Amino acid sequence: MAKVLSAIQPSGDLHLGNYLGAVRQWVTSQEENDSYFFIVDLHALTLDIAPETLRSNTVKTAASLLASGLDPTKCTLFVQSHVPQHTGLTWLLECTASYGELLRMTQFKDKGKGQDSVRSGLLTYPVLMAADILLYDINFVPVGDDQKQHLELTRNLAIRFNNRYGDTFVIPEAKVPEVGARIMDLQNPTNKMSKSTATPLGTIGVMDDPSDIEKKIKKAVTDSSMLITYDRENHPGVTNLLEILSAVTDMNPLQLAEKFANYGELKKATTEAVIEALRPIRNRYYEILEEKDTLRDILKEGSEKASSVAEVTLAKARSAMGLL
Ligand code: TYM
Repeated sequence: MAKVLSAIQPSGDLHLGNYLGAVRQWVTSQEENDSYFFIVDLHALTLDIAPETLRSNTVKTAASLLASGLDPTKCTLFVQSHVPQHTGLTWLLECTASYGELLRMTQFKDKGKGQDSVRSGLLTYPVLMAADILLYDINFVPVGDDQKQHLELTRNLAIRFNNRYGDTFVIPEAKVPEVGARIMDLQNPTNKMSKSTATPLGTIGVMDDPSDIEKKIKKAVTDSSMLITYDRENHPGVTNLLEILSAVTDMNPLQLAEKFANYGELKKATTEAVIEALRPIRNRYYEILEEKDTLRDILKEGSEKASSVAEVTLAKARSAMGLL
């Protein structure tokens, strides 16, 4: 059985990019693999976030994942900070990573840009992410396109550590879906859809009202050519709509491009397909949020299981480096 792991920041409700790029793959993965999924509340501290927001977003993100179909009887679901081995291994890996390679990470450059003061945690963010993965002897990490560079660093650190201190870590591989790996902002289709940088009309929340989804897709930026072609470079807005429709219907985007006579038809079909795909998730989400005790028990059980697995690898890494 392969071991699979992935994680998400506690930004509250999921957006469509998170769901199509990552979480949907997690739900299928749990059927066949030994799977670990978690909410990275420690990573959220790399930017300023109010304590009460972090607390409530962590709960909401957990509820969103369960509503999306993660099943605690089939996967291990937990909160990163509840498993202290993640920070324990991070230090060992910080002493494996170089300052220069962390400075070159595009996410560090993007998120640090224009800020007076950048938290040092933002620089070491990818090392914590490497620890997240390496603790569990993971084979595959299902993620969207934007996490590929972090996965490459994780592999490099694992290989470097193994070469220097002896075979300790399994080398993981990123699993990026063919369609939906990079959903773009509906208003600014050359930027990826994201909770933090988006205009409110550019991001579809998985828990959005159907009427909001309809409005956002209706107003989505296309272009003046009136052509319906799957061409990211020259027609990013139309291509993004085709990509979304393709991901939710499991149909080929090139074939979909031939089906529609105008943007109105494409938008109508996309709206209907997205609303239908998200409806059951949204319905379950509000039920799960009501069951606070059950949610707490699921996360507690998940962190206990994760911790017992992580401890074995952490002890191996500590001893390999010469710590008594
Ligand atoms: P995060 O919270 O930004 O995103 C969670 C997942 O959603 C994917 N994603 C997208 N996919 C397609 N289109 C988009 N517009 C889009 N936006 C986000 C992301 O690629 C990701 O898979 N650093 C990670 C969290 C993390 C992690 C880990 C992931 C921490 N430790 C260990 C895997 C393994 C992050 O910030 O994801």
